[in-house]
Amino acid sequence: MKRFYPDHLEVVPNEPSWEDFCVLDVDGKRGQGVLVLRDFSQGSVLFRMNGTLKTEMTLHTLQMGPGLHLDDPYFAGKVLHSCEPNSWLDTDSRLFIATRDITAGELLTMDYDETEDVLFRSFPCCCGSARCRGTIGGRLVRQPAHRGRRKTQVLTTPAEIPAQLYATAMAEKQHYTAEFATASAS
Ligand SMILES: C[S@@+](CC[C@H](N)C(=O)[O-])C[C@H]1O[C@@H](n2cnc3c(N)ncnc32)[C@H](O)[C@@H]1O
Ligand SMILES: [Zn+2]
Repeated sequence: MKRFYPDHLEVVPNEPSWEDFCVLDVDGKRGQGVLVLRDFSQGSVLFRMNGTLKTEMTLHTLQMGPGLHLDDPYFAGKVLHSCEPNSWLDTDSRLFIATRDITAGELLTMDYDETEDVLFRSFPCCCGSARCRGTIGGRLVRQPAHRGRRKTQVLTTPAEIPAQLYATAMAEKQHYTAEFATASAS
């Protein structure tokens, strides 16, 4: 089966599937992100992240513990931040879990301040949430007014993404599904 990860990374159970997600250029401000291609219900497992454990940060690491960073420039490291995210990462199991029902066509998002002490680089957030915290830099540099919020939140408005991007992603999914069927048959 086609993987998001290269062969040198051993397969882990619940790796993200090409059927469920795609990585694409979202816009000039946010760069690449992960688009969800099917519905998921609140609380369900989205995928388990893979990667290489490091002691230093990169743009695509997620912090697993003090001084411990899992580098995943292939998939999980592409998940965008939102101040009202639709997923969270359980760093013990490395599973991404849906914090609310997610509809096909939404961007997958997480709250970087939930895992990262300090970000590799801070950035002005454009998540579009009414509760957007502005500049995101990690939980240690978070403004006191924004500290101590609940970990899991239920959202009502999906992250916006142009219909054209979704259509392109679905066409790509069909292409890979057909390619896989052909390869399996031969
Ligand atoms: C972990 S990387 C995510 C993947 C990255 N977009 C890429 O193309 O490789 C984090 C970077 O993505 C961008 N980003 C993520 N979430 C964002 C948001 N809500 N608003 C603006 N930029 C965001 C910022 O440039 C940030 O430094
Ligand atoms: Zn925000």
